[in-house]
Amino acid sequence: MIFKTHNSLQTRQLGEKLGSVLPAGSILALVGESGAGKTCLAQGIIKGLGVLDTYITSPSYTLINEYYGRYPVFHFDLYRLSGLPEVEELGVEEYFFGQGIAIIEWADKVRELLPPHYMEIKLDKIEETVRRIELIPRGENYRNLVNQISHVDLAT
Ligand SMILES: Nc1ncnc2c1ncn2[C@@H]1O[C@H](COP(=O)(O)OP(=O)(O)O)[C@@H](O)[C@H]1O
Ligand SMILES: [Mg+2]
Repeated sequence: MIFKTHNSLQTRQLGEKLGSVLPAGSILALVGESGAGKTCLAQGIIKGLGVLDTYITSPSYTLINEYYGRYPVFHFDLYRLSGLPEVEELGVEEYFFGQGIAIIEWADKVRELLPPHYMEIKLDKIEETVRRIELIPRGENYRNLVNQISHVDLAT
């Protein structure tokens, strides 16, 4: 499923809608260049999971931010990690099991560590303010999720 958003508010809204329907243990693998809107989307997802706006920040310097909404939420930004060994050392895959929600920016760096089922989200900057956001479900449960947000109405 492909969405196009025309400003950061719409991207946040799409994230919020997705966050509001996520079941426990969901894994969201965000992939896309810098400025593609990964953090923006992640912040919407976190809000949709019931975390108050005022607590939501960017994990650029912290690698991982942890929140408590409907479930524990782990927001990763793996940009600074050089390679798989370094990631493995951190034991991030520990977070990919259990009730918590994992939202992973630069998830392509840990693809080998992801479980077989997850939602891949590809973001592309196609114009200065236009973002193409593709949801690629890996596994049956994630296909159902995509159906649940297929009719989302983004503010104009
Ligand atoms: N449609 C859009 N969706 C998301 N961000 C947008 C959009 N149009 C412009 N922007 C801007 O692009 C930037 C996206 O940054 P960010 O979410 O941090 O990207 P990333 O985490 O992928 O590096 C923000 O400055 C945001 O205001
Ligand atoms: Mg980011």
